[in-house]
Amino acid sequence: MKVRVAHISDPHFGTVEPDVRAALLQSLKSLAPSAIVVTGDITQRARLRQFRDARRFFRELEPIPVLVVPGNHDIPLFNIFGRLLHPYFGYRRILKGHLKKRLPLEGVEIFGLASTRRYRHVQGEIDLRAMKKFLSKHPDRAPVRIVGLHHPLDCPKRVDEKNILRGADGMMAALSNQQVDLVLGGHIHDPLVSLSSARYPGIEKPLIISVAGTCLSWRTRADAPNSFHLIDILPTGETPQIQIQRLDYIDRVSFESIECHQFVRQPGIGWNRV
Ligand SMILES: [Fe+2]
Ligand SMILES: [Fe+2]
Repeated sequence: MKVRVAHISDPHFGTVEPDVRAALLQSLKSLAPSAIVVTGDITQRARLRQFRDARRFFRELEPIPVLVVPGNHDIPLFNIFGRLLHPYFGYRRILKGHLKKRLPLEGVEIFGLASTRRYRHVQGEIDLRAMKKFLSKHPDRAPVRIVGLHHPLDCPKRVDEKNILRGADGMMAALSNQQVDLVLGGHIHDPLVSLSSARYPGIEKPLIISVAGTCLSWRTRADAPNSFHLIDILPTGETPQIQIQRLDYIDRVSFESIECHQFVRQPGIGWNRV
């Protein structure tokens, strides 16, 4: 059975274009994914009304489950006391229904990780020991495992190297050791679908990297309009398959598929392009 997951990122509620919001809502409803993963920067400035706007959007998508992870914009920037004492106050209070750390689907499991730290506002970090403990806690491993976090593990442009997750090499090795198949990220508003083998040649079994652009915000890059990724997974059998389509907001009308990546997992080898 095919499992469909929508990977959206960086909506930055507070900077949302209403026509893009309507188009994304319509697109997600008609594509009917089994789950939606939002890889952070839910808000622009971690204000309560921005989190409420996000919650309203997620409610309009019900009954599709939405799993969110925090981004650096979801902790206060200017409110120093808030950042130090309660960095996730609004995020946890208002989005609490979407903060599951694990979302099991038929043959697929999705884990959400927080890579944002109050003292490191742009570059993220993961506690690898805690992550390994968390991922190995589920003995009945699903055939396909997905991990979502805000900070990217790959980027298309050199200028974004500074935004790559701190300790990315160790993180990628740990993900591979935990038999993670696909890692989702955002943050740079510049979409990319890649195999880990190009950037991390030392990893024995390559996995897939999906970095989604901003799905709703006007804070787009010059050559990357609003976009999201649609992931179709065939998790069963000897050789599971994953297809990732990038959908761009075209002509201020609708989200359309503009590229498609196909991958297959060979036993003992890992993921490769088809
Ligand atoms: Fe962002
Ligand atoms: Fe970010």
